[in-house]
Amino acid sequence: MCGIVGSAARRNILPILVEGLRRLEYRGYDSCGVAAVANNRLERLRSVTRVADLSIQIEKKHLAAETGIAHTRWATHGAPVTRNAHPIFSRGEIALVHNGIIENHDELRYELKAKGYAFDTQTDTEVIAHLVHSLYRRNLFEAVRKAVKRLAGAYAIAVVAGREPHCVVGARAGSPLVIGVGKGEHFLASDALALSGTTDRIAYLEEGDVAEIGRDGFRVFDAAGREAKRAVATVKTSGTTAELGPYRHFMQKEIFEQPRAVADTLEGIEGISTALFGDPKGTVLRKAKSILILACGTSFYSGLVAKYWFEALARLPTQVEIASEYRYRESIPDRDTLVVVVSQSGETADTLAALKHARSLGQKLTLAICNVASSAMMRETRLGFLTHAGVEIGVASTKAFTTQLVALFLLALTLAKLGRKLPAKEERKHLRSLRHLPKALGAALALEPQLMSWAGRFAKKEHALFLGRGLHYPIALEGALKLKEISYIHAEAYPAGELKHGPLALVTAAMPVVTVAPNDALLEKLKSNMQEVRARGGELYVLADADTRIAATAGVNVVRLPEHYGLLSPILHVVPLQLLAYHTALLRGSDVDKPRNLAKSVTVE
Ligand code: M6R
Repeated sequence: MCGIVGSAARRNILPILVEGLRRLEYRGYDSCGVAAVANNRLERLRSVTRVADLSIQIEKKHLAAETGIAHTRWATHGAPVTRNAHPIFSRGEIALVHNGIIENHDELRYELKAKGYAFDTQTDTEVIAHLVHSLYRRNLFEAVRKAVKRLAGAYAIAVVAGREPHCVVGARAGSPLVIGVGKGEHFLASDALALSGTTDRIAYLEEGDVAEIGRDGFRVFDAAGREAKRAVATVKTSGTTAELGPYRHFMQKEIFEQPRAVADTLEGIEGISTALFGDPKGTVLRKAKSILILACGTSFYSGLVAKYWFEALARLPTQVEIASEYRYRESIPDRDTLVVVVSQSGETADTLAALKHARSLGQKLTLAICNVASSAMMRETRLGFLTHAGVEIGVASTKAFTTQLVALFLLALTLAKLGRKLPAKEERKHLRSLRHLPKALGAALALEPQLMSWAGRFAKKEHALFLGRGLHYPIALEGALKLKEISYIHAEAYPAGELKHGPLALVTAAMPVVTVAPNDALLEKLKSNMQEVRARGGELYVLADADTRIAATAGVNVVRLPEHYGLLSPILHVVPLQLLAYHTALLRGSDVDKPRNLAKSVTVE
């Protein structure tokens, strides 16, 4: 997704801007650029390849400046070509970078054209640049404050003017923007991570804020146009950009980091208590009579698994909804519902908007399960649980998913305990299983060679079907998502019992059918579904527990996990599916960590 870095300093800021973009690279982008104010003029360099190329261009041009803005763009309006790459200029006097989407760009374009502005790009961003220019009377801060009043949609922007060599102006609504405070220098960024290594002193801008940074200070005006104070806090971002080490890709590294990530997430947890979620007296969690989980993508699937846990363990009715659907639906709000947002990044636009929507309906019991401590979701919910997966770089989420599941299981146990549905013996048993998870995950990872051999066959296919039942149906969904997003093989997942209601028509010898087959109460039912596939000549790829009597025969390939792991089994069964997707993508030659068209953190609607 798009990323912003800006700076006003007393030293050459080009290396800082490039380093900031490099730190945001993993989120996915298709072009990048920088604009610098040098000798009261704007200079701009852009690239449709990588940030490294931009850096080479900067060196070749010997570009140096004390003030500037930079951007990575993930195309929404207009193709990923140099002309559309940010910074966008207006008449060579204003340069602007933008994250988000301007919804009224057509109306503004019409108006600005009537004033004589020529449009060189297909972007929605260009209207902001021209709008600021049209209002510019040698005071950039004032021009931006006036301009944002006209914008509908989501934006985080950073703007410089050739005539104001020591100032950068930023504004945000619906997309994050932070100010970094240094000594005699200040920064703007869409994420504190971009500034890690430069400054850890961060002020978070709020909805509707407009800010001006200079070398010696910053000022902020809020949405109502009043001067506002924004506290500066020391924020721990994970210092360095993650290194690959012995792995070929971040996704592979992150799959293999899962035992460590789960252990870190469980670190220091001696018993089940509401304090784990920031509610030491249980005043918020005690009120919850039902649960609403809001999330997108892989995080949504972790919510689907958790529904089984919340209902089975805590006996609380649970709804799981895709955030982008919930926010536009006429739902029936309930004040006693605990709204749980689940997100790796904590910045996903749809999930954030769904959270706000839930709150606007009077649902005040909110909790975030998130992997980024400083994220908007962690700041905007009453309660929170931080997973300790560590920075996840690969676009395909892996260790974030397994640690989310751990957090959600802990929440189910906590709510069960509050409702007196968790006898002490059961609590100890579940805690033992959780603590043993890193070891069990290690055993699942040891299956890699077998999955590599399956991948050899999958790499030649164009379609695949994934089946699961109960707790493992969401795991089938996650397996299909992993395969499609990185190998570009069309994959669909179904609850196995649903097969004969339609998807069975797709089954032929050419259709591999992956079946998640733990040794649980639904196994016999699942075996019948597998027979239905075999009877139509479909080839089965079965992930079975060691204690499941499923034999490998012609057309039935079996990979055996360790013994059945009870309610936590989904956390193990997802691992072979991650490995299958990874190795299949590798054989098909796709860019595993940055699959086409996708971004790591989806900060636009
Ligand atoms: O950061 P989030 O967990 O909120 O992100 C949600 C989805 O965008 C994300 O899980 C996406 O589906 C991944 N590419 C899945 O691998």
